[in-house]
Amino acid sequence: MAKFHTLKVAEVRRETAEAVSIAFDIPEAAKAEYSYIQGQYVTLKIKLNGEEVRRSYSVCSSPLANEPMRVAVKQVKDGRMSTYLNTQLKAGDMLEVMTPMGSFHSAMNAGNKKNYVLFAGGSGITPMLSIIKTVLIAEPKSTLVLLYGNRDEASIIFKAELEKIVADNKDRVKMVHVLEHSPKVEGSLFRGIMLPEKVKALIENYVGLNLDNEFFICGPGPMMRNVESTLIELKIEKQRIHLEYFTVYVDAGKAQPVVEIPTIESSVTVIMDGEETTFELSSKGKSILDAAMDAGVDVPFSCKGAVCCTCKAKVLEGKIQMDKNYALTDQEVAEGYILTCQAHPLTEKVVVDYDVV
Ligand SMILES: Cc1cc2nc3c(=O)[nH]c(=O)nc-3n(C[C@H](O)[C@H](O)[C@H](O)COP(=O)(O)OP(=O)(O)OC[C@H]3O[C@@H](n4cnc5c(N)ncnc54)[C@H](O)[C@@H]3O)c2cc1C
Ligand code: FES
Repeated sequence: MAKFHTLKVAEVRRETAEAVSIAFDIPEAAKAEYSYIQGQYVTLKIKLNGEEVRRSYSVCSSPLANEPMRVAVKQVKDGRMSTYLNTQLKAGDMLEVMTPMGSFHSAMNAGNKKNYVLFAGGSGITPMLSIIKTVLIAEPKSTLVLLYGNRDEASIIFKAELEKIVADNKDRVKMVHVLEHSPKVEGSLFRGIMLPEKVKALIENYVGLNLDNEFFICGPGPMMRNVESTLIELKIEKQRIHLEYFTVYVDAGKAQPVVEIPTIESSVTVIMDGEETTFELSSKGKSILDAAMDAGVDVPFSCKGAVCCTCKAKVLEGKIQMDKNYALTDQEVAEGYILTCQAHPLTEKVVVDYDVV
């Protein structure tokens, strides 16, 4: 079950002018709870100006490498948490860190001979670095292609570390930079942003579509949409495409219709750490997450915007309706998983379990 612990910051390392990476010291007693899978994220909780702020950050370290758990944070203009972490945080500080979560990964198997195609934009490199390092250790026969978009050369997070990885694994890792502005970059393919034509050209040049490919996409919303729609157009099976959104991004192509729901007064039971709490909730009222918080349950959450998955739970009884969902896969939804921050009851009795995620 997702839980916060107070962890000591072991190191704050400046990666670029706008980004730091943060390594944590995990006490022996909590190590098992912080065991993670490549591509997962942790949620940090900080009081800023008296208000609790929660934000999620992908882990950039590998669970298989002998290294501390580390996240990387790019400073967002006027962003509360990212500015604090980039300008105030220092080694030795204590931070409230939730245990790792997320499903931006595929199962590792030493026998796999896959080709991992990673489309990263800006800070979207963080889960990718974790995936690259892990695949290199866990799957000796697999290869990786990193297609990495940035504004300019100075904004490339982990540039030196990635170059070393490529140099040490020439036959297994390819890296292609696409820079929006750079006088040094030759060739139109490597300049600009990842519009659909560019994505198609990058795939034609660097990805064998006959390989056992697994696609991972993380970066700004429009870039993610361009890559995903191009892959769909190329008839890549949906289960081979993994997406990790960092922010709520809605465009015409992805907007989710607002579904009118009937008014139903429901008795909702949430199970958390084996304890059941029941409350009344209208289908037109608050989300199950907010109602559970009002009822005094310490439920996990971060973005409250259908993006991060921290509030994930499973419906054991009854039906619910989600306002939005950018985080759960079709398969997870079919299995009964929900984002409780978006969920409203649709039957007179609903039972939701936070313990089975
Ligand atoms: C699963 C998950 C993993 C994430 N991993 C990482 C990571 O590894 N590294 C990382 O740096 N961030 C990551 N994020 C984003 C992070 O959680 C925060 O959203 C981000 O740091 C901004 O928070 P803030 O408090 O600084 O900004 P806020 O105070 O929330 O926002 C301030 C303003 O900036 C805008 N904004 C918010 N986020 C962004 C963004 N990413 N780009 C552009 N504008 C934005 C907002 O719309 C708002 O106008 C992740 C998010 C999720 C859901
Ligand atoms: S809290 Fe992030 S999806 Fe619900």
